[in-house]
Amino acid sequence: MNKKIVVAICGASGSIYGIRLLKALLKNPINIYLIISNAGYKVLEHETGYRGESFSSFLKDKGVVIHNDAVLNIYEQDDFFAPPASGSFRNDGMVIVPCSMKTLGAIASGIADNLIHRAADVNLKEKRPLILLPRETPLSLIHLKNMYMAAKAGATIMPPSPSFYSNPQSIFDLVDSVIARVLDHLKIEHDLVKQWGDNIV
Ligand SMILES: Cc1cc2nc3c(=O)[nH]c(=O)nc-3n(C[C@H](O)[C@H](O)[C@H](O)COP(=O)(O)O)c2cc1C
Repeated sequence: MNKKIVVAICGASGSIYGIRLLKALLKNPINIYLIISNAGYKVLEHETGYRGESFSSFLKDKGVVIHNDAVLNIYEQDDFFAPPASGSFRNDGMVIVPCSMKTLGAIASGIADNLIHRAADVNLKEKRPLILLPRETPLSLIHLKNMYMAAKAGATIMPPSPSFYSNPQSIFDLVDSVIARVLDHLKIEHDLVKQWGDNIV
């Protein structure tokens, strides 16, 4: 049976992280439940050249190859009838990438005002993986407290902090060094970066 992963893209800077995660996931037989917030679409337009075309054809233009047995479902942020809105929808994890401070705040305070907040709330209450890649700098005490609350409730806080020890040659390498850690946490095999120690005999 295919793994089921919920992916959300918010209106924080760094939509490329969401695209590279989808690229890495969709090369596998996997079911993706993708939610893009309204602000997420706007930042995608600003940062990636997305122009309102069908999102799957946009992904293909970005070099995303979809496995024959993969399924990409896309939902609007207000669609509370979508599967991720219910605890009865069993999934293997949810990733919010990038995660805005607004969405982080909503999750930390239990405000399920849109499908992204609700799906995150559901995964926390059902004790399913929830991985947040919050993007802001510097961080206020409110941001830090919200991260603390989300982590205490069971979320994994994974700021998109690329690694440099793998000698990255491009922005894609930098981004993928973060995505590799997300895939590790989702228990999905990948060859995006070498594990530390692999080059030691
Ligand atoms: C170009 C651009 C970049 C932004 N970057 C960030 C960011 O890095 N972090 C953040 O928390 N908000 C950022 N924002 C503000 C969010 O888009 C805004 O707070 C929005 O309400 C988030 O909504 P969402 O969480 O539903 O996507 C940015 C906005 C724009 C237009």
